[in-house]
Amino acid sequence: MSNAGRIVVVTGAASGIGRACADRIEADGGTAIRTDIAPAAADDAAEVTFLDVTDDAAVATFMAATHRDHGRIDGVVTAAGVAGGGPVHLVSEDEWDRVIRINLTGTFLVAKHAIEHMLEQEPVDGERGSIVTIASIEGLEGTAGGSAYNASKGGVVLLTKNLAIDYGGRGIRANAICPGFIDTPMLDSVFLREGLEHIAASIVREHKLRRFGRPSEIASVAAFLLGPDASFVSGQALAVDGGYTAGRDHEITDLLGLGPD
Ligand code: NAI
Repeated sequence: MSNAGRIVVVTGAASGIGRACADRIEADGGTAIRTDIAPAAADDAAEVTFLDVTDDAAVATFMAATHRDHGRIDGVVTAAGVAGGGPVHLVSEDEWDRVIRINLTGTFLVAKHAIEHMLEQEPVDGERGSIVTIASIEGLEGTAGGSAYNASKGGVVLLTKNLAIDYGGRGIRANAICPGFIDTPMLDSVFLREGLEHIAASIVREHKLRRFGRPSEIASVAAFLLGPDASFVSGQALAVDGGYTAGRDHEITDLLGLGPD
């Protein structure tokens, strides 16, 4: 499994999952072009280029410059995203638009302008490019108070499947990763707050592995989907969720000694 020599654009790369994906691509010998609206974290020596995924013209210009400067765009990981939503009667239209714009329209714009250049380049090992979108388990099933976030991530899942259909004939693969709850600044900001400990504990229990995921556990799957080992994988929404979506667990088997140590 290797992305050695591959040029991969990563959005949302200043933090969490995007940063881990970029780190993994580089550890495998590839070049990660890191973009975000936030600067690199204080403990991160990597260069992060400012790119707002909701800015159509900026994304178009950035992809053209990247393709010109590096000669190719082999892959894209769309990790830029925000939390948000709520029960709909409490959600303003502005909040709805903000979440859909960043999570769904941003994914569309990044895929659109990357694919324009992938289509122009010669295939390598029969492949012109690989798109990996970061959706969510909340794009596969509903969650209390999810609304705009779930709608945006469900949209990302089906957009990704359509990319796989439309561009498969030109040697471009597209897959969505649907992470469970991953220990990143986004999770901190939503659930790891005083007074919400019982909610965080209940979310942990929903993961059959009884823990949150790590950003590196999403990055390893992104590296697989980007790379040659996944050469026949396209159009999938792959839950990487510690068993969250496996089904309900009423903990009856804990009575038989199968609970946590
Ligand atoms: P994070 O908050 O650590 O990182 C998200 C990054 O996206 C931030 O650096 C932020 O500056 C950037 N960003 C926000 N708006 C942007 C814009 N308009 N243009 C460019 N960059 C922008 O969050 P995390 O957890 O790493 O999330 C990454 C992706 O994974 C998101 O799409 C999120 O919805 C998704 N995800 C996260 C899960 C979790 O439990 N942490 C679970 C499932 C999906």
